[in-house]
Amino acid sequence: MKPNLQFEIGGVSFKNPVMTASGTFGYGEEFEKIIDLDTLGGIVTKSITLKERPGHPSPRTYETSAGMLNAIGLANVGIERFIDEKIPFLKKLKTVIIVNVAGSTMAEYVEVCRLLEKAGGFAMIELNVSCPNVDKGGMEFGTDPESMIKLITAVREVTTKPIIVKLSPNVTSIVSMAQAAKDGGAVAVSMINTLVGMAVDIETWKPGLTNITGGLSGPAIKPVAIAMVHKVFRAVDIPIIGIGGISNWRDAVEYHLVGARGLQVGTANFIDPDASMKIIKGISGYMKNQKISSLYDLIGKVRL
Ligand SMILES: Cc1cc2nc3c(=O)[nH]c(=O)nc-3n(C[C@H](O)[C@H](O)[C@H](O)COP(=O)(O)O)c2cc1C
Repeated sequence: MKPNLQFEIGGVSFKNPVMTASGTFGYGEEFEKIIDLDTLGGIVTKSITLKERPGHPSPRTYETSAGMLNAIGLANVGIERFIDEKIPFLKKLKTVIIVNVAGSTMAEYVEVCRLLEKAGGFAMIELNVSCPNVDKGGMEFGTDPESMIKLITAVREVTTKPIIVKLSPNVTSIVSMAQAAKDGGAVAVSMINTLVGMAVDIETWKPGLTNITGGLSGPAIKPVAIAMVHKVFRAVDIPIIGIGGISNWRDAVEYHLVGARGLQVGTANFIDPDASMKIIKGISGYMKNQKISSLYDLIGKVRL
């Protein structure tokens, strides 16, 4: 029997748990010729802001042991061009389209979501309240529970789409932030965004990134993310989308066992654009071997 990888979040049905993470998969179309996009569980777009942003000057990525640092600075086409140029392509796909929204003020988030609501052509919104690489990246919304609740409440007034809040690991209590996401009315949390990091080139004595610090991602952050997902799963009753260093199906299964319902693959896309496809097949193969018929029989089943 073929294992059932389907699941649901906020009334949206996913064919499998593997989505591509924001900022690592462009606007989807860049990968059209490389993989079958319709096979994915979902696609999360690059963070969209009200105005087009060029982002930081290069170097804005830097390789580290078992990971990478980035300080892209939310480079994106802005909401107008996103609606005109990117949504027509995305809405033809047979996968769940999640638009990641960022801003520096509450008004900016609200306006982007209002314009998205008018345009349609996607299933869910993911609020990036956690970009560590810009001066004003909505970071206070990701670190202060009250501000987060206010933000979600304001966004909910202008959208009918279910809202996912993407949590930052750069906080004292990730559980309080997940609870705030739930209290504000989010249907799920996705976690984690990158961890603040820095590297120095010992030949030039200069930081590896022009922005000096950046966000650490890749296999190096997986154990941190696994511990955070585990904590939130046990403390807050809200669906979790696990993110952080997922490179193969074994990583994916580990995330499910600590409580992740959905998954997002980020840095691995740069190493192998086919990574998500292999992970989908791998999870299915694992479930078959283990005689697990439904994904739900894996979620949160870690034996403590
Ligand atoms: C180059 C790069 C750009 C990113 N851009 C965004 C972004 O625009 N918005 C966002 O919410 N997360 C962004 N992220 C964070 C990823 O979506 C993801 O949360 C993080 O990289 C951890 O997953 P990973 O270890 O699988 O890469 C970016 C990550 C990388 C590596």
